[in-house]
Amino acid sequence: MDKKYLILTYGCQMNVHESEKLAGILEDNGYSVCDNAVDADIVVLNTCAIRENAEQKIFGNIGELKNIKLAKPEMIIAVGGCMSQQKNYASEIVKKFPFVDIVFGTHNLADFERLLKTRIKTGKRIAETTEDETIALRDNLNISRTSGVNAWVNIMYGCNNFCTYCIVPYVRGREVSRPEKDILREVERLLKEGYKQITLLGQNVNSYAGVDENGNKVSFAKLLKDVDGFDGKYRVRFMTSHPRDLSSEAIDVIASSKHICHGIHLPVQSGSNNMLKVMNRHYDISRYNSVVDEIKAKIPDAELTTDIIVGFPGETDQDFEDTISVMKRTEYLQIFGFIYSKRKGTPAEKMVDPVDMKTKKERLNRLLEVKNEIIDRKSAEMLGKTYEVLVESYDAKNDILYGSLDSGKTITFKGNKACVGEFVDVKVTNVKKSVLVGEIVSDTSAFVEKNFKTPIEVSILPKDQKSLKILRDNKKTAKDANDKKSKK
Ligand code: 5AD
Ligand code: SF4
Repeated sequence: MDKKYLILTYGCQMNVHESEKLAGILEDNGYSVCDNAVDADIVVLNTCAIRENAEQKIFGNIGELKNIKLAKPEMIIAVGGCMSQQKNYASEIVKKFPFVDIVFGTHNLADFERLLKTRIKTGKRIAETTEDETIALRDNLNISRTSGVNAWVNIMYGCNNFCTYCIVPYVRGREVSRPEKDILREVERLLKEGYKQITLLGQNVNSYAGVDENGNKVSFAKLLKDVDGFDGKYRVRFMTSHPRDLSSEAIDVIASSKHICHGIHLPVQSGSNNMLKVMNRHYDISRYNSVVDEIKAKIPDAELTTDIIVGFPGETDQDFEDTISVMKRTEYLQIFGFIYSKRKGTPAEKMVDPVDMKTKKERLNRLLEVKNEIIDRKSAEMLGKTYEVLVESYDAKNDILYGSLDSGKTITFKGNKACVGEFVDVKVTNVKKSVLVGEIVSDTSAFVEKNFKTPIEVSILPKDQKSLKILRDNKKTAKDANDKKSKK
């Protein structure tokens, strides 16, 4: 019988890509994808630990799976990723959720096949995490890509920065860079396969420190230059950059490149020197501003996006105003604002925090207001202009195409499904707040439909009521059998 898998992914792009690796393992083992837990023979939760609300959502979702497992005891539930990797979490998850079968961490993703086989063979529950791993194992996995025209490519794993609020160095370990030739070979193959955008992934890509075939050191700037060197039309993006490490050489390469996008994600976290210091960010705001100025001078059409934390322990009104100032100065195209969330085991956990939640929420709201002012104004300025757009997907229900500008901003427009995966010129004809609508102004007649695998929308409970009925019938049969047994 055809076995089905469901993967629930939480958190960042790194996790989205690692779910593609988990999907690869499951497909190698005869499973095919489904979109809900009722139909699934195995459910894998690929978890996140960056903020407390991510964890609460995941715990809630594991709880929701309990009823389904009661009706389908043979269904395997596996919990992996950053949350499981945290100290003592694996044993806690096992204790708290007796219906979870496998717990694994970030460092033993490549072992998932073995863990799954052991669970099936022995019927025993498994909780296994490790600190050290052989990265090459993770790099050699079969990847089931479902990110449409985009292909994710890991260039490095881990982080050495230890920002005081951040759990990442504890759950993803120290920085390890992949050899350059492995990355280039992967990019070349992906371009041959027809992917139109390559996104280089790492927690701090600017500190990439690989080696070439002769054992010589390769910097991020050199890697970018080489990734830019293939024939054909394609885009390269990278995330995430660190303001201390984004070098002038890398900015020069981006400025003179053919394929590297001018939309750069450069998390500032705070505009206050006091906060940057206690956050252990290794730069002050004048260094940040000078990187921004250098980017804008060398790449006139550059667009920056950022992450900001409000309400870090001890943040004063003035510190927060400094953050508002850097937002206005940099004129970001997108801003991701977060309220600080205390993470177990990080240095900030122990910091005294006199700021109350009400103030933090007010600051976030103010941040969002200023963000909208900036983004709406920048979007309004785009009206009437024409941009090169990579067409990313077609929404059949609304008969509309979605695409992205070089800056990363999304735009929708009418057009044929065959445009997906092509570069077209789109004129912005309507702007509502920060939402762009446009029309194609270049010739699309020669395009043919291509076959990009897109992510399916998944949920725990099925949208289709039929599966739910089967689940209820199963539960009833199980209950009847149980009643009979206890009567006996
Ligand atoms: N609380 C709130 N936000 C956080 N981030 C990382 N750790 C925390 C935390 N403990 C934010 C940072 C980072 C983004 C991915 O998540 O802004 O850049
Ligand atoms: Fe976390 Fe800082 Fe590393 Fe980014 S650079 S992953 S915020 S510790």
